[in-house]
Amino acid sequence: MDSVIAFIDANRGRFVEELTAWVRVPSISSDAAHAVDVRRSAEHLAVELRALSAGRVEIWPTAGHPAVFAEWMQAPGKPTLLVYGHHDVQPVDPLPEWITPPFEPAVREGRLWGRGVVDDKGQVHIHAKAIESFVRTVGRVPVNIKLIVEGEEEIGSVNLETLLREHAADLAADFVCVSDTAMFGRGIPSLCVGLRGLAYVEVFVDGPSTDLHSGSFGGGLMNPVNALAKMIASLHDEAGHITVPGFYDAVLPLRDDERRQIASLPFHEDEWLRSTGAPAAWGEAGYSTLERIWARPTLDCCGIQGGFQGEGAKTILPARASAKVSCRLVPDQEPEDIARKLGDHLQRIAPPGVRVRVETLHGGRPYLAPTDHPVYDVAKRAFSKAFGRETVFMREGGSIPFVRTIADATGKPCLLMGFGQPDENAHAPNEWLDLENYHLGIKSAAYLYDELARLPPEGR
Ligand code: BES
Ligand code: ZN
Repeated sequence: MDSVIAFIDANRGRFVEELTAWVRVPSISSDAAHAVDVRRSAEHLAVELRALSAGRVEIWPTAGHPAVFAEWMQAPGKPTLLVYGHHDVQPVDPLPEWITPPFEPAVREGRLWGRGVVDDKGQVHIHAKAIESFVRTVGRVPVNIKLIVEGEEEIGSVNLETLLREHAADLAADFVCVSDTAMFGRGIPSLCVGLRGLAYVEVFVDGPSTDLHSGSFGGGLMNPVNALAKMIASLHDEAGHITVPGFYDAVLPLRDDERRQIASLPFHEDEWLRSTGAPAAWGEAGYSTLERIWARPTLDCCGIQGGFQGEGAKTILPARASAKVSCRLVPDQEPEDIARKLGDHLQRIAPPGVRVRVETLHGGRPYLAPTDHPVYDVAKRAFSKAFGRETVFMREGGSIPFVRTIADATGKPCLLMGFGQPDENAHAPNEWLDLENYHLGIKSAAYLYDELARLPPEGR
């Protein structure tokens, strides 16, 4: 490993330059105007991977944006690791809040700033550079590696199940590794052992066929904005519980040992609150903040519109209103079941005088890692070697649909080895990647491959 680690140290600057070039490609998957950029991003990555003696590098088309697949099968008799990441990025608005433009990545304060630097191009790049470091020193990677980099993660991985089904044989592996999460805190290597799922719906409330004069009609008709606001407000009770019937039916209660483990982490609630800028914490009664954001389901209105939005006052009774509502899910909730229960409930609570329609946008299933599997100790050891500190288990409140899909399809354990920081501004203006983490991340991935190579392949 010495030569590999020395190579990583010696090429630190060049690796960042190469990542920078990829981040310049504005691969925003949610915006049809950027579809050609998502394709360019896939091609950019494929070119970089082709230079690394991969046996196969392919761009896999989907009904939406393409994925990139590559494999290094140079370790006969050794286990196979499937590495997943995504090359699409979130939109950049509000643009004026960026200190430097999102697709002109810049280095400041030991960080690389730009859209997608940490979510998730930087974390995919960590694996590419770990692979390169083996190829260019010892000539081959010590385990077999398959890499799949999706182009639609940020829009709910809508074509992923089809892709995984079509390529099930290509993707067969003993272990899965996903680097698309953050570490618990600065310098603390953290394996994420739980992800929440997601059910996302849009609700449309229609009243009169056109906006009306609120003087002439107000008081005589139900106002769709009033109706929708009341419906949304009623979805939580005073204790912060969600009121949708059956919402909690499948929720696995937190076990005492899980609560103890979460409580043992060095979480500073005051610092966390300060980082948000909000005046107070809020949440479901009976749970700590970490439990609320990692291990309890939520319902949030992500956006609401309707009526007059312009300057000054306009006296109307609006014709319609709509809202986007997302629920974060925990095991064993199912996105389809929750979307249906929420949709039925919204229909039921709609006041007379409006018509309600609910559309499901997308979803993903929650994941809990089988941490009693020995591979988690191997990953802990590798991560700790690079960071010089004990690795902790944590969970994340966010969702990565791939993880549960592949875990269910293959039965293999997934290592969520993330290299972000909790305050990295993912999905927000001024996203950044800690360059020390990026560098140590490459070493962590290299140690992981090295450690996995000492394990027997799983019977498959
Ligand atoms: N990298 C995130 C997942 C994540 C979120 C990890 C928060 C750690 C903390 C991923 O790219 C993401 O944003 N996922 C979406 C998935 C959704 C669109 C189905 C999410 O969680 O909103
Ligand atoms: Zn994301």
